[in-house]
Amino acid sequence: MVTRARENAIKGGYSNVEFRLGEIENLPVEDGLADLVISNCVINLSPDKARVFAEAYRVLKPEGRVMVSDIVLLKPLPPPIMNSIAAYVGCIAGAAKKTDYIAAIRAAGFQDVTIIDETPFPTQYMVNDPIVQIITEGTALPMEMINDVASSIVSVKVSAIKPG
Ligand SMILES: C[S@@+](CC[C@H](N)C(=O)[O-])C[C@H]1O[C@@H](n2cnc3c(N)ncnc32)[C@H](O)[C@@H]1O
Repeated sequence: MVTRARENAIKGGYSNVEFRLGEIENLPVEDGLADLVISNCVINLSPDKARVFAEAYRVLKPEGRVMVSDIVLLKPLPPPIMNSIAAYVGCIAGAAKKTDYIAAIRAAGFQDVTIIDETPFPTQYMVNDPIVQIITEGTALPMEMINDVASSIVSVKVSAIKPG
């Protein structure tokens, strides 16, 4: 994907972009360099979310902003889903409780931590999404419980500022 991104940047004539391969827990970026850190649906996959937010804080300039979109949970998942590899790959089993997620951002040192949008897990995914189908087939949970699980999964967009 990095190779493709570099090729597309050349094709598009974008000379002011650079792609670095790295881990979200160990960003290949020096301290205090970035104005903005963005992430879409990756932090739920990290087993060390505190480290992820600490890294975002480290690489930002003072008064820099973090703006992330992610899956979080309103209540714990039942063990068969919690332990499902398909549910982990599908960005559900690795998700943190919403309160813990927000607390981790604050604990990293960020201020003005704001949930700017919160969207429920679309119920049509229950019938259409292939990963959800693997989860439902693999866990053999009754549909009633699956619907209950769906109601405890939300997507949030969170903004926070590194103090100046
Ligand atoms: C659900 S996809 C989201 C991709 C992209 N952000 C988007 O919105 O289309 C999750 C991506 O995170 C990457 N990923 C998972 N764990 C990671 C980690 N610890 N550090 C960096 N990337 C990670 C995966 O390889 C995958 O490309």
